[in-house]
Amino acid sequence: MKGIFPIDKFKGVTTPFYYYDTALLRDTLATINEEAGKYKNFSVHYAVKANANPKVLAIIRESGMGADCVSGGEIRAALKAGFPADKIVYAGVGKSDWEIELGLEHDIFCFNVESLPELEVINELAAAKGKVARVAFRINPNVGAHTHANITTGLAENKFGISMEEMDGVIELASRMEHVKFVGLHFHIGSQILDMGDFVALCNRVNELQEKLFQRHIIVEHINVGGGLGVDYEHPNRQAIPDFAAYFETYHKHLNLRPQQTLHFELGRSVVCQCGSLITRVLYVKQGTHKQFAIVDAGMTDLIRPALYQAYHKMENLSSDETAETYDVVGPICESSDVFGKAVDLNRCHRGDYIALRSAGAYGEIMASGYNCRTLPVGYMAEEFV
Ligand code: LLP
Repeated sequence: MKGIFPIDKFKGVTTPFYYYDTALLRDTLATINEEAGKYKNFSVHYAVKANANPKVLAIIRESGMGADCVSGGEIRAALKAGFPADKIVYAGVGKSDWEIELGLEHDIFCFNVESLPELEVINELAAAKGKVARVAFRINPNVGAHTHANITTGLAENKFGISMEEMDGVIELASRMEHVKFVGLHFHIGSQILDMGDFVALCNRVNELQEKLFQRHIIVEHINVGGGLGVDYEHPNRQAIPDFAAYFETYHKHLNLRPQQTLHFELGRSVVCQCGSLITRVLYVKQGTHKQFAIVDAGMTDLIRPALYQAYHKMENLSSDETAETYDVVGPICESSDVFGKAVDLNRCHRGDYIALRSAGAYGEIMASGYNCRTLPVGYMAEEFV
């Protein structure tokens, strides 16, 4: 049961580690280019927050996408990977002065501004450098997405964005500032969204807003609808490449773009999720009173999603073909939440078996921590094993 994994080559490689199926990543990128390319004026940015492994970033940059960053560190990582500065957008509710200055120095494409005080600071810092910052306003569209409460971002009570009511005032103020140029509107309603109806709801809201602005003779250069397209965590092999055709078609059908306007996307999870797996080994099989535990050498420090969001990651025993048994799969961290899955059916486990936690390419390696003084997991590309 080794599936797509070259486990004979894993010998001697310290576990846990991330394994990236780069052929799948390249196929995914080609599909995105093909499907988005069907509509003129569609432009895709990769959300660096999902995975900033330099080798992964290099492959994504080769595909021609821009980069969506949420910190100075991400801007640096994107520039280092070769993303052109004029394809970098920078969002985030709490931009520090040095981060804004970094963006200004590199003349990035756009700052996605989330509050009035932030706009004022950008104007001041741009003035000090004798520059004009291109800004888009992140509007909170008050659209709920059918996803986990921790990763929905478009509702009114969220910390993100400027409310629809405040928008007029902010645009008015921006028009009087000399060192900012208002070029776009930005939205993002949440992540891991599989119901296209949620994106339709966003399109309707954007259309209403555009109509309102149009009455004031305002037509922005671009609309940015964020990311959010989900993946199939239950069946990573069945639909390894998300349905980008349906995704882009939804926006094409429902969002009324004005002539000359471009539509920007910030996709993270759907780009990298299925190509990555966390590879770990069984340390001990422990018999409890009512259940048995497979204790593995990866923990919540390597993949925090199950502990943080009760997220499901499919697990496979790559070393065993024996009849399946039921295990609680747990890590070595001193926290009761360090559990990858309860009552998981795995081919009978033995010490040393390789276990793959699938669909871990997004928000996996990048969210790793050094808690318990653990070493960060290394990420390897498939071609490093040939
Ligand atoms: N744009 C903005 C403004 C965002 O906040 C996000 C994600 C994206 C784009 C990319 O969204 P995606 O296409 O990946 O859904 N750590 C969580 C996910 C947090 C998402 C944060 N924002 C997880 O592991 O599920």
